[in-house]
Amino acid sequence: MKKVLIISGHPELRDNSFANKIIMEDLAKLLPDAVIDDLSALYPDYKINVEAEQKKLTNADIIVLQFPIFWYSCPALLAKWMEDVFVRGFSHGSQGKALVGKKLLLSFTTGAPESAYDAAFPVDALTGRFVQTAGLTGMIYEGYVYTGGVSYADRTDPTRATAMTEVSHAHAKRLLEKITSLM
Ligand SMILES: Cc1cc2nc3c(=O)[nH]c(=O)nc-3n(C[C@H](O)[C@H](O)[C@H](O)COP(=O)(O)O)c2cc1C
Repeated sequence: MKKVLIISGHPELRDNSFANKIIMEDLAKLLPDAVIDDLSALYPDYKINVEAEQKKLTNADIIVLQFPIFWYSCPALLAKWMEDVFVRGFSHGSQGKALVGKKLLLSFTTGAPESAYDAAFPVDALTGRFVQTAGLTGMIYEGYVYTGGVSYADRTDPTRATAMTEVSHAHAKRLLEKITSLM
């Protein structure tokens, strides 16, 4: 059985998240053996424990990055985690082979509806930094699971909140299926 690490890059997962919170809670139940790495709980001060994070990565076969899209990229917390943890001698460089062969799967949400991403700016354009990082570090990029239209502004609208709850649970289910297919 392959070991799964799910890293949440939402900066306020417990206190200010709708979709990512549901997705992470569902995954914890659906994949009880997975290691859950909630960066916002561990590092509210953005001071990453590099050794601990490298150890989690080293022990994993499948690495899932779960995050909301912030300004067409990942949140600063997840970017900081990558900058601190993916260092020469660990993830790259002649001695840095720790990530080689591990599977990388992205799982993200946007406030904009899925129709906002089209030929001019496709959803795939949001994944570039991770695809390239996987290539550089020897990880196998396994694609993404994506849900759009989980808008911050809609949280207080009961009808929209119900719809967002449904798509968030459905996202977790799709993500589970994808992870299971890699195991
Ligand atoms: C600082 C910030 C920047 C955002 N930038 C984008 C963006 O570039 N594109 C987009 O579709 N949504 C954007 N959003 C909306 C989030 O992607 C959306 O609220 C999130 O995916 C919902 O997940 P959550 O309920 O777990 O917070 C942004 C939200 C914040 C707070």
